[in-house]
Amino acid sequence: MRAFTLTRPDDWHLHLRDGALLRQVAPFSAAQFKRALVMPNLRPPLTRVEQALAYRARILTAVPKASGFEPYLSLYLTAATPVKEVAYASRFPEILGFKLYPAGATTHAEAGIERLESVYPLLEAMERHDLVLQIHGEVTDPEVDIFDREKIFIERELIPIIKRFPNLRIVLEHLTTQEGVEFVLSAPATLAATITAHHLLYNRNALFAGGLRPHHYCLPVPKREPHRQALLRAATSGNPKFFLGTDSAPHLRRDKEAACACAGCFTAPIALELYAEAFSQAGALDKLEAFASFHGADFYRLPRNRETVTLAPASWSVPEVYTGEGGEIVPLRAGETLGWRLIPNPYSDSSSSFSNSSNSSSRSGGSPS
Ligand code: NCD
Ligand code: ZN
Repeated sequence: MRAFTLTRPDDWHLHLRDGALLRQVAPFSAAQFKRALVMPNLRPPLTRVEQALAYRARILTAVPKASGFEPYLSLYLTAATPVKEVAYASRFPEILGFKLYPAGATTHAEAGIERLESVYPLLEAMERHDLVLQIHGEVTDPEVDIFDREKIFIERELIPIIKRFPNLRIVLEHLTTQEGVEFVLSAPATLAATITAHHLLYNRNALFAGGLRPHHYCLPVPKREPHRQALLRAATSGNPKFFLGTDSAPHLRRDKEAACACAGCFTAPIALELYAEAFSQAGALDKLEAFASFHGADFYRLPRNRETVTLAPASWSVPEVYTGEGGEIVPLRAGETLGWRLIPNPYSDSSSSFSNSSNSSSRSGGSPS
């Protein structure tokens, strides 16, 4: 293994929360990525342009200026969204589209969509104004097995949307199945998908390894090993329909280590290290740059980044917990060793270029070697 340099990547699916938690977690993403598409599932959800712009300003105050981090937003699509909000949103380059959550599908998805037909006029406006639809692609029908929810969503909901809105650009977020990969490959160029690092690295056994593992629990849940293999092949294929979206979704430790654990893996501090591990396992490190830094920007019709970062082989342990003003957050891989390190990164490398910036996050347990 040798260190390699790549164009600074972007994260096209990220949860940053708000308030103290936002201030605690945002600097980690800013240290890893140049840009991110930040999800709107706050409480209350970000349904309107003005709310999203105010949130964007709060994100910017939460990250070190020197990071040059640029947040983009997706608005939370609801049946009550006025159609004229779509045209209005399209005037703001920071707003890339709308996020469709089936009602109840995941964390803070209560305000989501019950019947897709109810938002067809909004989708029609998005198609006309060239905004992108980000989709949480799982049905919420309690009769459907949780491991089949993505596959059934594609059959029941996604195919009709694509047929009805042939020019609407759609990102199927956090893809988890072989059927999903095959569908994206067979669909028109208007459909792309993000893939998380944790779905590339873990199958559903990780949820039950020696006991119930809440820090591996996220939605959509990881599937069987052949699905992970299919995702890995897709991500490393060089096909521009697949790109990086961490879905880093921090929850406080007490909400994860609970009788009813929240869904979401916190991967932001080690995201690129995790992707490098997955790509290197597949013998495809040479495909990481396009997946992490080109395909997403191209799909969103944004310029590719100019700066570079380096990933170096290294052995260091991930902190057991990140403690800050929001509370305690346990990352994926807590206390375990990573084989890669991002340079520069103020959180794993003391010689970094923005290590003297102000931020309130501190770490306890584990330290870089
Ligand atoms: C996300 C969250 O916590 O906001 N959780 C998750 O398991 N991925 C929501 C989501 O993207 O589904
Ligand atoms: Zn998400």
